[in-house]
Amino acid sequence: MEITSELESKCDALIAQYPKKRSAAMMIMHLIQETFGYFDDSSVKFAARKLGVEPIDVYGMLSFYPMFSQSPRGRIHIKVCRTLSCAMAGSVKLGHELAKRIGCPIGETRGIYTLEFVECLGNCVRGPNVQVNDKLFEGVAPEDAEKFVLKLGELDKSGELAAKPSSDLPQGGGDFDSPAYKG
Ligand code: FES
Repeated sequence: MEITSELESKCDALIAQYPKKRSAAMMIMHLIQETFGYFDDSSVKFAARKLGVEPIDVYGMLSFYPMFSQSPRGRIHIKVCRTLSCAMAGSVKLGHELAKRIGCPIGETRGIYTLEFVECLGNCVRGPNVQVNDKLFEGVAPEDAEKFVLKLGELDKSGELAAKPSSDLPQGGGDFDSPAYKG
């Protein structure tokens, strides 16, 4: 992946907002994910160099946080919650219905789609919950899978599924020493 001077500058500007370089880890990783769509060895080494950590630390975060990927994803990334409340509301069936309709097996990428099951999306009372890129959809019944796929097509066309820039994401909480992360 080509590390441009623009990317270097954006990283430097983010890192300058934190007292320690490594505290900018989440922001830097979101920026790289947003720029390339996934991480390869060169972008992992780049992130490590900017943050003053070892590549193994970056790999640790990559495997811990599901929003980062080590392989290219489709433009429409569908995550179906399969944790208990959503599963009881039909999310597992919904996942399989979606797979049939978009022609993409669960856990894989086909064309513009990536489809996967994930754990709790934090909206348990309104399941089945589905997150598509940055957008959360609640109460998506399995029998509405067809309608849901059509709706995604419309939202994609209108640009409403475009990922938010990393500058719009919540700041902070991104240290390798964070209690949320013990990679
Ligand atoms: S169980 Fe699905 S959002 Fe929590």
